[in-house]
Amino acid sequence: MQFRLTKGTLESFAADIVAIGCFEKEIVKGEKPKPALLLKEDGGIAIDSFLNGQISKVMVDEEFTGKEGRKKILFMAGRIPARYVLLVGLGQKKKATLDTLRKAGSAMTKAALDVKAKSLAAVFQKEATNRLNTPLRMQAVVEGMILGSYFFDQYKKEEDRKKNTLETVSFLVSGNLQPLETAIKRGSAIAEATNLARDLGNTPPIDMTPAILAKVARDIADKHRLSISVMGMKEIKKEKMGAFISVAKASNEPPVFIHLQYKPSKKAKAKIALVGKGVTFDAGGLSIKPLKHMEHMKDDMGGAAAVLSAMQAVAVLKPQVIVDAYIPACENMPAGNAIKPGDVVRARNGKTIEIISPDAEGRLIVADSLSYAVDRKPDYVVDLATLTGTCAYAVGERYIAILGNDQGLINRLKMNGDEAGEPLWQLPLETEYKKGLTKGIADLKNLGTSKADTINGALFLQEFVGDTKWAHLDIASTSWADEDLPYAPKGSTGAGVRLLINFLMKF
Ligand code: BES
Ligand code: MN
Ligand code: ZN
Repeated sequence: MQFRLTKGTLESFAADIVAIGCFEKEIVKGEKPKPALLLKEDGGIAIDSFLNGQISKVMVDEEFTGKEGRKKILFMAGRIPARYVLLVGLGQKKKATLDTLRKAGSAMTKAALDVKAKSLAAVFQKEATNRLNTPLRMQAVVEGMILGSYFFDQYKKEEDRKKNTLETVSFLVSGNLQPLETAIKRGSAIAEATNLARDLGNTPPIDMTPAILAKVARDIADKHRLSISVMGMKEIKKEKMGAFISVAKASNEPPVFIHLQYKPSKKAKAKIALVGKGVTFDAGGLSIKPLKHMEHMKDDMGGAAAVLSAMQAVAVLKPQVIVDAYIPACENMPAGNAIKPGDVVRARNGKTIEIISPDAEGRLIVADSLSYAVDRKPDYVVDLATLTGTCAYAVGERYIAILGNDQGLINRLKMNGDEAGEPLWQLPLETEYKKGLTKGIADLKNLGTSKADTINGALFLQEFVGDTKWAHLDIASTSWADEDLPYAPKGSTGAGVRLLINFLMKF
């Protein structure tokens, strides 16, 4: 999909579809809903009068009120160069956010695919909507367009694969083009990185082993000139990552520890470490999961996918910070040599861990990675992990749970998450629950006693970050969608990518 900035009007522009975003009129209690608003600024009024009021007539006749998520497509039969006019409901103007525009962008590309359109055009007015300036709005629409046209069907036979017909999107604009070009570049890099993370999470585990994930990381590093090192089992052992090894050892697929680094050309404003859990398949180890829970455990590398994909966007968008990405990747399998409940292992930082549940493996591999990361003295360390299934009970499917030892960092991530359309909800790092992690025969147990699994997991990880400012993002409930979302199909969602990029760009 190519984006162009050009001048023009909807009634004269040669594109297969011209799209108009329509706000709802103020709803008055007791009155019937009114047809949606057509605006002068986005060319809606001009095209309507060119068509002798046909658009507003359809809005009345077919009760198109501009409700968010609703759309209407009108066949033009040669009256204007465009084959179709597409009306996209935006909801009430005063409630509009950047996410409204992501959803609208997604609705536009989906409609375009439906009618096999090759080109689409829409007007972007110069004035801010709800204090959202034009570059921000355009970036959100671009994100929505690319995210909304994502599908994963490379395992289907050729005839059954969807074709992405939409080749060009033209934004009809006036004024200074430079900030808009930047907006398109940002929106594209962010959405393409998210779609990459989705691909990684959706790929069957047989084709997304630790070794293959390392190959993907190498390809990204080569293409975008990032530095990379990949440790194998021998080096991981040399690093004394006993917790990581205890998980990895039962699999026929050897583990890897990936380290990617991005350095800005000018002096860096901060040094940030990202850690992503990369369990390419979580069978639960000897505490083997029931099939229902194992079904989408190929996405247990969602944290790794988010971190790796964010690095791709970082290489393109070049923020003013040093970014180190650390990815421990392995499988969690049952086998004759698998870690047993009751075993004690020694983590990289010297702490001993009594393994209570081999299925609480994420914290083990992330713990050693955090210890490795903080030894390299970052200003901040942020880990992303599909750590606890019950995270879904704590925050549901629309929030990423965040916990950490530095409120400033947490606030920063929350703000950037909101703006990126990936809200975070903070859970307390309650020290009272820490007792449950220390009562066994070793320094730590890999399972707590509080019912709050998500907090227990974070408290466990805290033991490996020392004084470094740290935040833990549990993406277990957001990384995989059981049903289609407005701009993500069922499956791996690429959770965390957009918020990470926003966070890094804001320094
Ligand atoms: N990868 C799972 C968590 C998970 C579950 C992610 C469902 C996404 C959807 C993790 O390794 C795990 O098994 N966690 C345990 C933690 C428990 C033993 C404290 C869980 O959720 O049961
Ligand atoms: Mn597990
Ligand atoms: Zn897991």
